[in-house]
Amino acid sequence: MSVIDEIKSRIDIVDLISESVSLRRSGKNYLGFCPFHTNTRTPAFVVFPESGTWRCFGQCNEGGDVFAFVMKKEGVDFAQALQILAQKAGVVLKPLTAQETAERQEHETWRALLEDAVTFYRHQLLNTEAGKQALEYLSGRGLRAETLEAFGIGYAPNRWDALLQHLTAKGASIPDLVQVGLVSEGQDGGVHDRFRHRIMIPIRDEQGRMAGFGARVLDPKDVPKFLNSPQTPLFDKGRLLYGLDHARRAIREKDQAVLVEGYLDVLALHQAGFANVVSPMGTALTEHQLSLLKRLSKRLVLALDADVAGEKATLRGLEVARQVMDRSQEMVFDSRGLLRIEARLQADLRVATLPPGLDPDEIVQTDPQHWERIIAEAKPIVVHVMEILAEQRDLNDPKQKDEVANLVLPLISEVANPLERDTYLQRLARLLRVDERALLSRLSSARKPARRSPKTETTSSPSQPAPIPLAQSLFSLEQHILGVLLRFPDLLYRLDRALQEDELERLSPSDFSCAEHQTLLRLLQESLEQDLVEPLQYVLQHLSLPMLEISEALLEKSQGLEGPSQRILDDLLRAVLQLRQRSLNQQIEYLRFTLQEAEEQHTSFDPSLRSEILALAQRRLKIDKALKKATSH
Ligand code: UTP
Ligand code: MN
Repeated sequence: MSVIDEIKSRIDIVDLISESVSLRRSGKNYLGFCPFHTNTRTPAFVVFPESGTWRCFGQCNEGGDVFAFVMKKEGVDFAQALQILAQKAGVVLKPLTAQETAERQEHETWRALLEDAVTFYRHQLLNTEAGKQALEYLSGRGLRAETLEAFGIGYAPNRWDALLQHLTAKGASIPDLVQVGLVSEGQDGGVHDRFRHRIMIPIRDEQGRMAGFGARVLDPKDVPKFLNSPQTPLFDKGRLLYGLDHARRAIREKDQAVLVEGYLDVLALHQAGFANVVSPMGTALTEHQLSLLKRLSKRLVLALDADVAGEKATLRGLEVARQVMDRSQEMVFDSRGLLRIEARLQADLRVATLPPGLDPDEIVQTDPQHWERIIAEAKPIVVHVMEILAEQRDLNDPKQKDEVANLVLPLISEVANPLERDTYLQRLARLLRVDERALLSRLSSARKPARRSPKTETTSSPSQPAPIPLAQSLFSLEQHILGVLLRFPDLLYRLDRALQEDELERLSPSDFSCAEHQTLLRLLQESLEQDLVEPLQYVLQHLSLPMLEISEALLEKSQGLEGPSQRILDDLLRAVLQLRQRSLNQQIEYLRFTLQEAEEQHTSFDPSLRSEILALAQRRLKIDKALKKATSH
């Protein structure tokens, strides 16, 4: 039995979920209000003890097993959920290798040093003569003592060895201080404090563990305005978001995350009660950062200042102090790049434009409601671009009209959801005052040609059997799909395209019922974005030991397949459609049962349940149709 199975067998899913959701029995199953979305009337959250799974039939329409529940609830990844549940279940995870243990200990030492530095800088700010100026500056900017305390803001005195002396006297080693970036090596070989005469802003990871500092000048003549910790094993700017440790709960509760540009903006907004706000640290936003947020909410708002947002609508702006960074992690920060990321993350990404010359910090301190309005008015990327372009051009001039169409149509064609695409097209037609049909024909030429060139067929070996036997369990269907994808990761792109051609959603982690499968798919998706590493290698690198065992078993299942051929793709598409069909059948069946039960017992049930069933049935119809088409060739 794998560790994962062992944990699953020891943890009772009803017990686990009951810790945070009040459940009542309904037949074999349990029913409650979904903890992941605000719901009023319908108890749409169901726990199935027999299969050890849960599902929200309401707004979230998500589900999974105990791991998936903990991941979603705590906003953690699979490895962390594994730790949490292993501890709960009293299962001992495989011991770390000697090297891993040493690394962990080293990180612990470094974090402890950074915590000591936070305390030291706090003390300097609050209790010393030298700190007075900094404290006055901060209160002059409207920051209250409790905000400064909550965020651990401090002051680094104007000396070369204040921290150095303090920490070495407490037993810290100089190489460690250099390693965590608190102390720098001078040209003469000596060492000195890195941060001097600056306001110190501790930067923590999403779990609240110390990672580094951002440090703002007090003297406007000093440069740079912000000096951050250097890149260290703990401080990786592309993987951290300032304020995330404080913002997590609010992001989940409001089901929205707002990104602003500056540290000071985060402080002021949190102080004003807008706690769902984080900021990157002066470098280009990375996809990793967005995916950190996406674990908490799909709805992401970029609050950009007016120049940036308007800058040829390219949104290049968050790269304030573009510093040398691993290029592969930097995303293409124009509207097209954003749209692609939005689709990949399946997020709802919007842009809020700030009034010219005003920072969020100033806005919220003068008028909190103004801030609220700005965020409420955030626009989808395509709409944002359209409006900016329209402002910049004279739409009575046919040439300029044409230009706008040329800029916007490729963006619209990038939008995955056909309904959304239509809406944007209508909007563009109205904006330009042209016939929508004219735009539509141009749109289809802006899109890529369809797949399925008959030639690819000949590359497959004709003797290969269609590998899916009928009547497989959901679980083995999932295994089959992942086995094939692990072997041929690139097929995922082609599969997604095929699904989209049938107006179906791309393959998503929520198609899978157990967390290890969900995680594998997520990793596979991520792996395709890495251009330096082979996708499979990337996936394997990022797996914990028990997950590696699972992947190996999955890979074994797809042994002997040669390809990737059209045939394997067709087979994969069929498998995915079958998976969806079966899981929809289960859902519909369950809802029907519940409805029937309610009617028999004359208890009232939310009428939206009926429309829920209808919607599911409609989805199934679409899938049935696609499946028929996929089976016919
Ligand atoms: P801002 O200059 O807008 O800073 O840079 P701010 O946070 O609003 O601070 P105030 O209001 O002027 O005091 C935005 C962000 O860009 C990064 C920092 O993360 C900063 O918060 N930055 C800026 C740097 O990393 N280095 C710099 O030299 C400047
Ligand atoms: Mn500012």
